[in-house]
Amino acid sequence: MAVTTESKSEGLEFGFSVSEGADWSKYLSFRPLYPQSFFSHMFAYHSQKSNAAYNIAHDVGAGCGIASLTLASRFKNVIVSDPNNGYTTLARKLLVEDSGIAENRLTFLQEAAEKSSVASANVDLIAACEMMQWTDTAVVVHEFGRELAIGGTLVMTYYSRPRITGHAGAQKVWKAIWDEYSKRTQGELYDRAFEIVNSGFQCIGFPDAEWDNIKRIYINCEGSAEHFKIDHRIRAKNIRADEETVWVEGDENWSDVQGIDWLKGYLATWVPKIEESEIQHLWDELGLVLNGEQARIETPVVIVLATKKG
Ligand SMILES: C[S@@+](CC[C@H](N)C(=O)[O-])C[C@H]1O[C@@H](n2cnc3c(N)ncnc32)[C@H](O)[C@@H]1O
Repeated sequence: MAVTTESKSEGLEFGFSVSEGADWSKYLSFRPLYPQSFFSHMFAYHSQKSNAAYNIAHDVGAGCGIASLTLASRFKNVIVSDPNNGYTTLARKLLVEDSGIAENRLTFLQEAAEKSSVASANVDLIAACEMMQWTDTAVVVHEFGRELAIGGTLVMTYYSRPRITGHAGAQKVWKAIWDEYSKRTQGELYDRAFEIVNSGFQCIGFPDAEWDNIKRIYINCEGSAEHFKIDHRIRAKNIRADEETVWVEGDENWSDVQGIDWLKGYLATWVPKIEESEIQHLWDELGLVLNGEQARIETPVVIVLATKKG
């Protein structure tokens, strides 16, 4: 059942809204779908616990429900929440009508991550995919701790825009396109989002009193969080000495070979939307440099895992 709540984070509008240009059909066509290896990291971490339960998962900031689909293959019940108008309706269509998941296994909530109506200490796994940048992260991490049962797993993930590898000229123009994009991301909501994503989520901390076994997995990052940096806005790191860090390089699940039309389509999945004509000179330059060829792209990804302490 969908429940409507009006709470907004710090009075800010919710990020990734349709009014800012979010387009779910482009999103489904051009964003990388979470590969099985992503869920393997998540399920391996959760399963290693002696008390691992698979009763309730919560997909927070679920959008149209992409991650919920795989969560529903492992968990008896999935809570699908998102604060923006109409998104849980889209998720219900994807999960129930298109994918045939029994509706009585799903709960749809229109609400923000900062203040959830979900009961305390009852959720086994929370997935926060590509959404933490739109939140007050310290408040949200605390709220996740309230929702999770002791020993429950929190998974946060973020993938940044891909970089073009093996073609320095094309990467130079692609970078100039993202510079233009970042110039258009002004105001409090975007400043906060960029501070968070530019840090590769390293600014998101886990208080020792509440969280254990923190693990940060970086994919296609060449040993540094620099590849997440789109511009200069950044928050300080908040990493504990006892965290585990894993670097995975050359992950083909997060790599591809694509041409200019795909690159245009990909940019159009980010908000705020930039019309192609606004940066036509850069698309023309990229077209000349690529000369009809496709380029290899690699997407930097971070997956952060944590366990709710007893
Ligand atoms: C880029 S989409 C990611 C959707 C989905 N999790 C995925 O990985 O495909 C970001 C989502 O965060 C949601 N969002 C924005 N502000 C939020 C908040 N304060 N709490 C929870 N979700 C929020 C947006 O409505 C949007 O659906």
